[in-house]
Amino acid sequence: MPKAFPRLDQLLASLGYGTRREVRNMVDRGKVTVGGAVAESFDARIDPATVEVAGAPLDAPDGLVAVFHKPVGHVCSHTADEGPTIYDLLPKRWPLRNPTVTSVGRLDKDTSGILLLTDQGRLVQKWTSPKSQLEKVYEVTVDRPLEDRIIPVFASGTLVLESENKACLPATVEILDPLHARLVMMEGRYHQVRRMFASQGWHVEQLHRSRFGSYELDGLAPGEWRLLSPPWE
Ligand code: URA
Repeated sequence: MPKAFPRLDQLLASLGYGTRREVRNMVDRGKVTVGGAVAESFDARIDPATVEVAGAPLDAPDGLVAVFHKPVGHVCSHTADEGPTIYDLLPKRWPLRNPTVTSVGRLDKDTSGILLLTDQGRLVQKWTSPKSQLEKVYEVTVDRPLEDRIIPVFASGTLVLESENKACLPATVEILDPLHARLVMMEGRYHQVRRMFASQGWHVEQLHRSRFGSYELDGLAPGEWRLLSPPWE
């Protein structure tokens, strides 16, 4: 059976256009059209594809998945306790959606690069599960010349980080030049890349994630984002 269309007020509120009361007011003031005609009742069941607010189609009515280029200096948190957040750089409506938009895992405040954002809880679970075997690629800049000896250590599957007891999964490191390496890994533990290098005596000066699974930035500048069309698997 086809899924029933949502009520207009519920639809708009769930997409972050306002509280139920606010969106009903928007309908009353003629700001909302359905199929090109001003919407008359906020409780009608409506095909989201036919709705416009202030002349613009609805923002990702079928769910939202975006690729974001996280800049350095912003945290992946919904609260501002630790300084500016990534949500300060994104459309204000996104965190107001229900379900809300969150990042798929996190990058540190001092790390830049690709971060997926979504309101699809199922995808967050899938993409952050260690079982997903999703490759993440990091471009690493360190404080002093690298040595080949880290290659077998990171690949061994036996590297245990400080205050942990479970070994890191094998990771592949390619030394690009004395101060730069590319690391490919499957996991996403807290500060993992920085801690892996620290365990061998290197300080990570800069960290940038260039790939998440099959997703890449493809020219997005820091702070820019791009919506992905379904299907998202
Ligand atoms: N590893 C880190 O150390 N930091 C990140 O942000 C991501 C992976």
